[in-house]
Amino acid sequence: MGLDILYPTAGDPPTTPTVDLILIHGLHGDAIKSWTNPETKAFWPRDFLPLDIPQARVFTFGYDADAVFGSTTANIVDHAKDLLSSLVDEREEEPEITRPIIFIAHSLGGIIAKQAPVATVSCHNLPFSVPFPKNLDFVGRDVVLKDLQRILFHTPGLQHAAVFGLGGVGKTQVALRIAYWVKDNRPDHSVFWVSALSHAAFEQSYCGIMNEAGLQRDDAEDPKQTVRRHLNSDKAGPWFLIIDNVDDQDIAYTINNYLPHGESGRILFTTRAKTVAISLAGSNYINLLEMSSTESKSFFKSAIHQKELLENESGVDDLLQHLTHLPLAIRQASAYINENEIGIADYLQLFNNDPRNRAELIGSNFLDKTRKREDNALSITWHLSFDQISKTDATAIRLLEFIACIEPKAIPRSILAVKGSTDPQILRALGTLCGYSFLSKRDGDVYDMHSLVYTAVELWVGERSDRETQEMLRG
Ligand SMILES: Nc1ncnc2c1ncn2[C@@H]1O[C@H](COP(=O)(O)OP(=O)(O)O)[C@@H](O)[C@H]1O
Ligand SMILES: [Mg+2]
Repeated sequence: MGLDILYPTAGDPPTTPTVDLILIHGLHGDAIKSWTNPETKAFWPRDFLPLDIPQARVFTFGYDADAVFGSTTANIVDHAKDLLSSLVDEREEEPEITRPIIFIAHSLGGIIAKQAPVATVSCHNLPFSVPFPKNLDFVGRDVVLKDLQRILFHTPGLQHAAVFGLGGVGKTQVALRIAYWVKDNRPDHSVFWVSALSHAAFEQSYCGIMNEAGLQRDDAEDPKQTVRRHLNSDKAGPWFLIIDNVDDQDIAYTINNYLPHGESGRILFTTRAKTVAISLAGSNYINLLEMSSTESKSFFKSAIHQKELLENESGVDDLLQHLTHLPLAIRQASAYINENEIGIADYLQLFNNDPRNRAELIGSNFLDKTRKREDNALSITWHLSFDQISKTDATAIRLLEFIACIEPKAIPRSILAVKGSTDPQILRALGTLCGYSFLSKRDGDVYDMHSLVYTAVELWVGERSDRETQEMLRG
């Protein structure tokens, strides 16, 4: 059943296909019998066709023809959709995506082949409600994108996945990329984007879905329940929901109450906290790490306006390493370099000379069209997380304050003691800080703090003690 490749398979010599041939059997047939000589048992599409047309990939598409016969046209449309989505899976990237297809179809098979393009056309008016345009400067992340597509779209039934990682590492961009991939490759899916930056943003996003899906407002019902009910119903058809920035545990609890569980839904969460990722997506989570050096270089090259600066290749490598290949840090540094028209060596000198300079650089705000925040500075991005952690884990905050006073690398666990905290509390605090990617654990009980996070922590601790002093003076 479904789409099966007959040629080329693992044992065949390598070829460069120029066309895809799809054989669809008709009534009372099946994917093998219909194309097999009953006497010689020769299977024409596999035994002869590749000899005549070696540059063709050959597939059969199988379905239960007898069950279709006499049933409703909806059944034929379902098979056409099945054919369509299997073809999309097989032809995801260049050069397959533009390769011609020839259908060889018998009786009812012809109707299914004819129905497949109709199935795409009928999907064109479905909601695609995403607040950002496609990022034309998007680079890399191939493995993560493939993994997410596999988790979310290659298994039937409701699927949840989560991407977690340091603030600014590129989670929202990955989610956005997947949203546009769904638009192009799963045209029968409605796509909705929900912001979980705050309770109000979450509420507003659900109201947006009500409008997009054309749902009637019922004063007696919470709009979030109306949306949930709709997405649980067959009327909604297949849908893909992105719930972005679930960084706060309290908001995660609220979201959990309004998650739809319809069988034809797929949900992708982004969060900074590993614990939130696990609570929302079970084992289907991906830790998004900093970019590779190739990815970060290509991102930096497109972000810098004065292209002649890029001739200083070793300077660029050095800078990207200092920025830990973190996309938001690269975006911030390139905005600073562009605005102040300074060279890469000048920026590096500022960055390295004095910790106060570095703090100022990572605290510098800039306009980022790809983020819906007023303040995009790295330090502010992480300070929000420190504030969130301070609501639930006082020991973790004490640890941050302690680490701000020592060297951030190779910290033995044995020196991480906090007055008044028990060992389990320390262990939990270390888990929290690792879960936010602020700390990483080496083999043995030794920890490293991310070097840019360290600067942000120093800044935060300084600002906090200033605030406390002021409050004490005010009495
Ligand atoms: N793969 C990428 N290609 C190009 N730019 C990226 C990529 N990933 C992130 N960025 C840029 O880096 C910044 C931070 O990314 P974002 O997705 O908002 O991070 P997060 O959601 O993890 O906080 C944004 O300016 C974004 O445009
Ligand atoms: Mg984000």
